[in-house]
Amino acid sequence: MSFAIAPFTPAGDVKPIIAAWKDAFSDPPHSYRSTSDLADQLAWHGTFPGFIGLAARDEATGTVLGMTYGFSNHPGQWWRDRVAEALGPQQTRELLDDSFCLMELGVIRAARRRGIAQALVAELLARQPHPRALLSMQSDNLTGLAFYRATGWRTILEKMSFGVGFLPYDIMLHEVYHSGTSSR
Ligand SMILES: CC(C)(COP(=O)(O)OP(=O)(O)OC[C@H]1O[C@@H](n2cnc3c(N)ncnc32)[C@H](O)[C@@H]1OP(=O)(O)O)[C@@H](O)C(=O)NCCC(=O)NCCS
Repeated sequence: MSFAIAPFTPAGDVKPIIAAWKDAFSDPPHSYRSTSDLADQLAWHGTFPGFIGLAARDEATGTVLGMTYGFSNHPGQWWRDRVAEALGPQQTRELLDDSFCLMELGVIRAARRRGIAQALVAELLARQPHPRALLSMQSDNLTGLAFYRATGWRTILEKMSFGVGFLPYDIMLHEVYHSGTSSR
């Protein structure tokens, strides 16, 4: 199965992307999210500065096999402000300021262990402009943890609380070295 990665925008036809995202998060430990929850989330995050969405499609059939998206972290955003509070001012300055948030990554169950997630994340990190990227992942997501550890991410906070009713999340970080810049 060969695949190709291309950008998507929330204003385009996102139904097949949302279908792949839903399939990817269908099994435990992921909590249930409806298709309309995902569509609403994508429409909202699509308005954030620096939004980038990427989909991997089967080159033969056009089927969406995987998706990822993220945006630039800025004060005032819900996720960014909670992570800043947990990190404290110094780590916020060092790690969170001038960073990208990888918000979602999913590969459909039928297409796993073929390097699709690795290719999607590599492309996302290359396209975004910041020297580091952060993400949060449910602390009990052992598959996600194995993937991120295998692909250069490190945990900077374990079992963070986003508030009452939320499961614990680990915060992970990936440095990004953009070619053509001396400090990155
Ligand atoms: C995590 C996920 C995105 C990985 O997608 P994938 O396309 O199968 O991953 P890749 O094929 O690119 O894997 C790259 C490497 O990560 C590691 N890895 C990936 N899945 C793994 C697993 N289930 N167990 C152990 N290691 C794993 C391996 O080292 C793998 O290399 P290898 O296959 O040569 O051994 C996919 O399992 C998924 O969509 N899970 C549900 C959603 C989710 O948890 N998303 C991440 C948190 S937001």
